[in-house]
Amino acid sequence: MKLLITGGAGYIGSHTIIDILENTDHEVVSVDNFSNSEPASYDRIEQITGQKVRHYDIDLTDYKRLKEELFEVESAFDGIIHFAALKAVGESVEKPVMYYHNNLNSQINLLKCIEKYDIPAFIFSSSCTVYGEAETLPVTEETPVSKTESPYGYTKLAGEKILEDFSKTKDNFRAISLRYFNPVGAHMSGKNGELPKGRPNNLVPVVTQFASGWLDALAVHGDDYETRDGTAIRDYIHVSDIAHAHVLAMEYIVAQKQEAVYDVYNLGVGKGVTVLEVIKAFEASTGKKLDYTIGPRRAGDIEAIYADNSKVRNRLGWEPRLTIEDAMSSAWRWQEHLNASRDYGKARP
Ligand code: UFG
Repeated sequence: MKLLITGGAGYIGSHTIIDILENTDHEVVSVDNFSNSEPASYDRIEQITGQKVRHYDIDLTDYKRLKEELFEVESAFDGIIHFAALKAVGESVEKPVMYYHNNLNSQINLLKCIEKYDIPAFIFSSSCTVYGEAETLPVTEETPVSKTESPYGYTKLAGEKILEDFSKTKDNFRAISLRYFNPVGAHMSGKNGELPKGRPNNLVPVVTQFASGWLDALAVHGDDYETRDGTAIRDYIHVSDIAHAHVLAMEYIVAQKQEAVYDVYNLGVGKGVTVLEVIKAFEASTGKKLDYTIGPRRAGDIEAIYADNSKVRNRLGWEPRLTIEDAMSSAWRWQEHLNASRDYGKARP
C-alpha cells in the first residue's frame, strides 16, 4: 500500500509512521506544515527505523498547492490517514474561527482530492471529546455525541459528520473515525515523543517538564471531583498503541472487511485513571518524586471519562500492549533525551 499521512511530523502521526515502517512493507508519504511540530521529527523517525520519509511542507487549507504539488506529483495513494489538525482545547475557545477554518478546510480539501484521484480509504483522527460529559461510563460508540463544549471538539464532531456524509456518496470508498482517549507516552526507545510548542497544557508533558525543571510548578487541577481520590478520571492510552490501531484500521478497510461505508471506534484502554494515579505511576516508574500542588478545577474540564473498547478489540483485533507505567517511563526517557540534546533550547518554554 502507498499511504499519505497528514501531520506525519506530529505526535501521533510520527509514531504511526514508525509503526508502519517497522512492521509493514507499506510506502509512506507525509505532509505537515510544522504548525505544532518540527522537521527534526523526520530525522527521529529515520533514527529509529533506518528509513527516510518522503515529505511535503504544505498547508492543507491551500487546495491549489495540495493538488498541484502533492497529489499531481505522487502516483495514486491507497489510503490517507489524517492527523493534521489544531488540537488545543483552550486556544480553540479563544480563536474559534482559526480552528474551524484550519481543521474543517484541511479535511474538506483532502476529501476533494479523494474524489478527484479516487482514493479508496480514509482514517480520521477524532476524539472522545465528542462525548462531552457522558451520563453513563464507560462510553460506547452509541453514547450520544454533540455535547462537546469547545470549538476544537466541534471540529471533530463536524469532521466525523462530513466524512460520514461523504462516504455515502462514493463507491469503493471506506472510512473510519478513531475516537482517541488521552494519548500519552513516547516511543519505547525514548527517541521520539511529544514536543508541544510553548508551555504544554496536557498532564504528561507538564509532569515530565516539571520533573526535569523546565516548569516550576505542577498543579493538580481540582481535587473535589466525585471520584475515588477527588481528582479527574481519564483513559490514558500509550501513543504507540494508538499508532498501531491506524495500521489495523487501514488494513481492515483495504482487505474489504468493513461492510459499512463509514464506521467509528473508541480508542482507549478501557480503564479510568485519576490525575493522582498518573502522578504515582510516574513516581513509581522513574523513581522521581513530584512535589505537586493542588489547584482549582480547570475551566471546561469534565469529571470522568473512559472507553468501552470492545468494538475495536473485536473488529480490528486491536488491544493495548503497553501500560501506564510504560507510558510514564517512555515519556521520561524522551524528556531526558531532549534534555541531553541540542533541541533542548528550542523546545524549552
Ligand atoms: N491536569 C492537571 N494538571 C495539569 C494538566 C492537566 O491536573 O497541569 C489534569 C486535567 O485537569 C485533566 C487531566 O489532567 O483532569 C488530563 O488533562 P489533559 O489536558 O492531559 O487532557 P484532557 O483530558 O483535558 O484533554 C484530552 C485531549 C484533548 C481532548 C480531550 C477530550 O488533550 O485533545 O482529552 O476529553 F479534547
